[in-house]
Amino acid sequence: MNKPTFNSARLRAAALALTLSAALAQTFFAPVAEAATEAPVKLQSLRGADINASDPEGDGTRYGRDQPPLPRDFVQQPPLIPHQIKGYNITKNFNKCLDCHAWSRAKETGATKISVTHFKDREGQELSSVSPRRYFCVQCHVPQSDARPLVGNTFKPGAGMR
Ligand code: HEC
Ligand code: HEC
Repeated sequence: MNKPTFNSARLRAAALALTLSAALAQTFFAPVAEAATEAPVKLQSLRGADINASDPEGDGTRYGRDQPPLPRDFVQQPPLIPHQIKGYNITKNFNKCLDCHAWSRAKETGATKISVTHFKDREGQELSSVSPRRYFCVQCHVPQSDARPLVGNTFKPGAGMR
């Protein structure tokens, strides 16, 4: 059994008390002037909406039409999703993407098979079906929208793609 004994519980309480008093001392004796001279931080959301406003219903994005696979910008890039994914749900028990992209379905659906890297777990072991760390496809693969970039960027394709 791994229950804390009376003594170790007491020790832990004492350690907590020490930490708390150190924190309190810092709060009280820290130089007050420093905080007073700093200008208040002006928070602003990228979309210009109020910082506390919740996201609009849906995500407000209009996704592009289905198109052929898109070029990649660097060799390790998760390929962009060239089609709509509305209603393609991924739950614990069901993954709509795999309905087409699984190795067993790719031939009849014409979708690209998920890559062999998607069968490796985080310890590097090869599995016989998609690895849990590759299960939630849209963590890495994103659908496309012709939206104005929120911030500028000067990214150029990686050397391996030139
Ligand atoms: C109804 C079948 C279907 C479903 C469901 C589906 N796809 Fe696809 N997907 C395709 C087809 C077909 C292509 C295009 C293959 C081609 O033209 O080479 C494609 C292409 C892709 C590509 C581009 C591959 C490349 O090499 O550039 C990605 C990434 C992708 N899909 C991800 C997803 C994800 C993530 C989901 C789930 C959210 C999903 N797909 C659901 C059929 C499907
Ligand atoms: C952790 C990030 C990550 C997740 C999650 C993920 N992928 Fe990928 N995927 C990648 C990367 C990176 C590549 C390109 C390098 C490679 O092939 O491993 C890729 C490649 C692909 C390709 C192209 C394969 C080829 O031969 O060109 C397809 C199709 C694909 N993924 C579909 C999926 C689907 C469907 C899921 C969900 C079941 C998924 N991916 C989950 C990162 C991810």
